[in-house]
Amino acid sequence: MGTYQNLIVEIEEEIAYITINRPKKLNALNIITIKELHLCLKELRNNEEVRVVLITGSGEKAFIAGADILEFADFTAEQGMQLSERGQELLFNFIEEFPKPIIAVINGFALGGGLELAMACHLRIASENAKMGFPETSLGLIPGYGGTQRLPQLIGKGRAMEMILSAKMISAEQAFQYGLVNHITSQEELVDLAEKIACQLLQNSLQAIAKAITAINAGFQIDKNGFETEIESFGNCFATDDFKEGISAFLEKRKPEF
Ligand code: COA
Repeated sequence: MGTYQNLIVEIEEEIAYITINRPKKLNALNIITIKELHLCLKELRNNEEVRVVLITGSGEKAFIAGADILEFADFTAEQGMQLSERGQELLFNFIEEFPKPIIAVINGFALGGGLELAMACHLRIASENAKMGFPETSLGLIPGYGGTQRLPQLIGKGRAMEMILSAKMISAEQAFQYGLVNHITSQEELVDLAEKIACQLLQNSLQAIAKAITAINAGFQIDKNGFETEIESFGNCFATDDFKEGISAFLEKRKPEF
């Protein structure tokens, strides 16, 4: 693995752990960190030893407290647009389309761009102390890394309107009730829960998982037809080694080895 200024990356038993490491700035996402995450994920995509990725924030206080406000404090409209477009392409869409499951392990504040990053992930789990929200409208902004689109997809338009227009934070418990996070647990047990969920995914075919991610995402993309993507992805599963192994294992009454 390459070395990164703002990331700690560890790989153990097919799970890659990425920790965003700017604790003094509550892991705020600056441009360097966005680029590093992109490069790191590219490496992990090609690394055959890795089948699941966990992303978390360093320290006990924050997952990611948003985009780094200092970096865009004096931007023009044109620069703002570029920041949003480039960020969406390099990181947020890249995570959403990643062919291996990525789990956001939300260990504290997940605000603005931090919550947008978590929403781009395939699953989200949070510790009970976590707080989530979109403070952008209190800064004269709106979410720019996909938040206005992915939030209503996950929790419905009415709740999304309230979260974004009020700029208020919600608790982990509320986020769980909304379906914004899949599971919540205590701070001490967060990593164990993340590993438990990762291990469940590791039992299954990565080739099938990648196709499921593509098909599910297609239903939310304006230029794609979800049902047609499903038909194609379903068909393509039959041409994979994993399908042969999965079916043979079932017929031989044993566990598949993917
Ligand atoms: N961008 C840049 N710096 C940030 C940041 C962000 N999004 N979030 C936190 N920081 C920095 C603070 O400026 C502070 O730096 P300093 O010690 O050099 O002054 C440091 O991180 C610690 O944050 P602090 O505000 O002192 O912690 P707190 O416990 O009092 O408050 C928050 C925590 C999360 C409520 C508060 O930091 C906050 O509101 N952050 C901004 C969240 C936001 O608006 N994000 C969306 C951006 S579009």
